[in-house]
Amino acid sequence: MATTPRADEAATTIVVFGATGDLAHRKLYPALGSLAGSGQLPQGVSVLGVARTEMDDAEFARTVIESVAKATGEDEERGAAAFAKCEVHFRYLPGSAADPETFHALADALRGGPDGPHPIGNCLFYLSTAPSLFEAIADGLGAVGLAHEDDGFRRFVVEKPFGHDLESALDLTRHLCRWFEERQIFRIDHYLAKETVQNILALRFTNTIFEPLWNRRYVDHVQITVAEDLGVEHRGAFYEHAGALRDIVQNHVMQVLALTMMEPPTWMDAEHIRDEKVKLLRAIDIPSPDEAVDKSVRGQYTAGVIDAAPVVGYREEEAVAADSETETYVALRLNVDNWRWAGVPVYVRTGKRLPARVTEITMRFHGVPFLAFEGTLSRDLRPNMLVLRIQPHEGISLKFGAKVPGEAFRVQSVSMDFGYEQAIHATGMDGYTRLLFDAMSGDPTLFIRTDEVEQAWRIVDPYLQAWAEPGGGLHFYKAGTWGPHIAELLLERSGDAWREPDL
Ligand code: BG6
Repeated sequence: MATTPRADEAATTIVVFGATGDLAHRKLYPALGSLAGSGQLPQGVSVLGVARTEMDDAEFARTVIESVAKATGEDEERGAAAFAKCEVHFRYLPGSAADPETFHALADALRGGPDGPHPIGNCLFYLSTAPSLFEAIADGLGAVGLAHEDDGFRRFVVEKPFGHDLESALDLTRHLCRWFEERQIFRIDHYLAKETVQNILALRFTNTIFEPLWNRRYVDHVQITVAEDLGVEHRGAFYEHAGALRDIVQNHVMQVLALTMMEPPTWMDAEHIRDEKVKLLRAIDIPSPDEAVDKSVRGQYTAGVIDAAPVVGYREEEAVAADSETETYVALRLNVDNWRWAGVPVYVRTGKRLPARVTEITMRFHGVPFLAFEGTLSRDLRPNMLVLRIQPHEGISLKFGAKVPGEAFRVQSVSMDFGYEQAIHATGMDGYTRLLFDAMSGDPTLFIRTDEVEQAWRIVDPYLQAWAEPGGGLHFYKAGTWGPHIAELLLERSGDAWREPDL
């Protein structure tokens, strides 16, 4: 993972498709501002916005600076000065990404005018558009020769969703690969840019005490929870066609799971890490549609209470059908069929309008073979657990038994907690800043490779098929609760339960 700008990034143009859109304003421009502010943006970068709205270069520059100020809470002069110091040049090209003409105009603009050709230099094509435009943009760029690396790199940066199911994902890949090689494609999963997700690797592979326990011999089961208290906000129209499985499980959950359970990479670089992730994903059992019904629970929130305030049910949300069958909650029981993990169930769940925003991984260890403290003396004792908290209050907790002071030999579970904020006083780059920086530096470690995307779709596809059949039941849960009660039944062994996160 690169940390300093490289000289060959000096003449980079970042072409932003969807330049007036929400994603660009909320994530990309603040990331650009942050790189400029910290002096990590190479001198002389050009930002060329493409969108349908008519505006000129100066107006475009102003909107970028406004977005940076909004995100940082600082005044606009400060952002403008940081961009000026790095000699960032803003340009804007009005045009639709669905119109081939736009790409001719883009090629002219990059070559310095129709009387060119001037060298283009390095180009990062950043797609901040609806996924339905990904293929048209790849085609448009390819058709005018902008995918060729004649006089600099050409990188295609694209954000999930990468397809809607396995078939569409394969189609998208075939399409992109007509013009771009795999090494030119940078697929963003913003979870990989979270420091604590990267810290899974540090925990596992820079310490000696955890890895010996990290297998079927000691681990009873694994739980991964990605909970959100937010509802679908203003994204009802998008979410209706996505649902929790596509929106979170296919990508974020699979990535976290792969990093948690993969084998040690030979070397911590992009290809070795991604090789191990894909090997792990390939070991996940792919159920038949019938088995998929038994191994999953899908739910949808109804009206309830979050943070003491009433909230509406999913079907009452803006742009959501009154009889919508889209799931806002999903829980799965997965099996990883390999030497290390055979027989260790992996329970994953995600949902919107759950009681809190929390992402965590729990390794639940086997109980002791014989408990010599039977009866009331050990009534509060639970099996050992290691909880990796990804967000918020990033940290690690180890749960173990300890004696309660007093004459009786009473044992209870206690927690040994490590919190990042308290222990490590360093601030890294925020997620999007990191991703933009790495894409410019050509480091693909935090981006998803084609084979990972496809394998993740292979895993979730049977659930999508099963749920499309009559009887692929939807269970309702009240906003502000931990999801449908029936999800408890997914846990295989009596006495097992979903861990209630420490809030
Ligand atoms: C996005 C999903 O990928 O991740 C959203 O599309 C979700 O629906 C978001 O809210 C969650 O991200 P984070 O970083 O807040 O956990």
